[in-house]
Amino acid sequence: MSEIVKVENLSFRYKRGTTPALTDINLSVRAGEFVGITGAAGAGKTTLLSCINGVVPHYYSGDLQGQVTVNGLDIATSTFRDLASHVGTVFEDPDFQMVSISVEEEVAFGPENLGIPPDEIEVRIQDALQKTRISDLRERTISTLSGGQKQRVAISAVLSMLPRVLLLDEPTSELDPIGTHEVFSALRELNRQVGITVVMVSQKMERLVENADRILVLSEGRLILGGPPREVCLQHDLLEQVGARVPQVAEFMISLLSRLNRSRQRDLMPLTVEGAVPMLREILDKGGVA
Ligand SMILES: Nc1ncnc2c1ncn2[C@@H]1O[C@H](COP(=O)(O)OP(=O)(O)O)[C@@H](O)[C@H]1O
Ligand SMILES: [Mg+2]
Repeated sequence: MSEIVKVENLSFRYKRGTTPALTDINLSVRAGEFVGITGAAGAGKTTLLSCINGVVPHYYSGDLQGQVTVNGLDIATSTFRDLASHVGTVFEDPDFQMVSISVEEEVAFGPENLGIPPDEIEVRIQDALQKTRISDLRERTISTLSGGQKQRVAISAVLSMLPRVLLLDEPTSELDPIGTHEVFSALRELNRQVGITVVMVSQKMERLVENADRILVLSEGRLILGGPPREVCLQHDLLEQVGARVPQVAEFMISLLSRLNRSRQRDLMPLTVEGAVPMLREILDKGGVA
């Protein structure tokens, strides 16, 4: 798989910032990968996404070092307009990012601004709505939708620009568990079936562990940990230390295995409820915890 996002020696301090928001970040994302980014509030997650979609340096200025490329395009020297068809961003608050009254208008908005002909826009609307499984919402007024539906509209509105990379900044933090599930499953399908590259910031470690190929952990502007979900979760002491979340199931299983003096089995440690069931059954069959 080829590299689609490349971040090299990136450091950034906002104009009004007293300390750097990011320090010496190196990161490469392969086309088709699903990368999760987590970390405490203020760790630099939003700033990192801003450096990938061009908000930094085109909207926020400051002291920027290093280089970021998306699909071969240098972010600092490309215009926002050029970048729009390569990288799209979905934000935390669905109400904040919507500019239209109806779903159809919202999904058409981006391509209309790019001057795409109407026939082609129609194809893009149908395609984007179908990919997030909300074709039936096309005629609806956005204000009547649930949070999960609104976020899927926001994702469709970005997809209609045909980006190769989808960035999401805590897109489910305002959503209830059903909405969260809707958004994560739509993203997973887009990633696995359509092959779109996903870079998603989230504090919902359980969901990231289930869906991401790789999880990166930011702390105080530095990338301190990164790897497959299991490897990252096994560093639970470090995660706790930097205020990142550990999946509850993993936390529970780690303390259970340690009480049973089976800590050496941590490599087999389940990260999801489904994965924990067989191990718990075996423990109960053997008489449980004394
Ligand atoms: N516009 C800004 N001007 C100055 N400092 C900022 C600005 N936005 C964010 N910061 C600072 O940059 C650091 C990283 O913030 P942010 O990227 O928003 O973190 P996160 O998304 O992980 O919560 C924080 O210390 C924050 O206070
Ligand atoms: Mg943020």
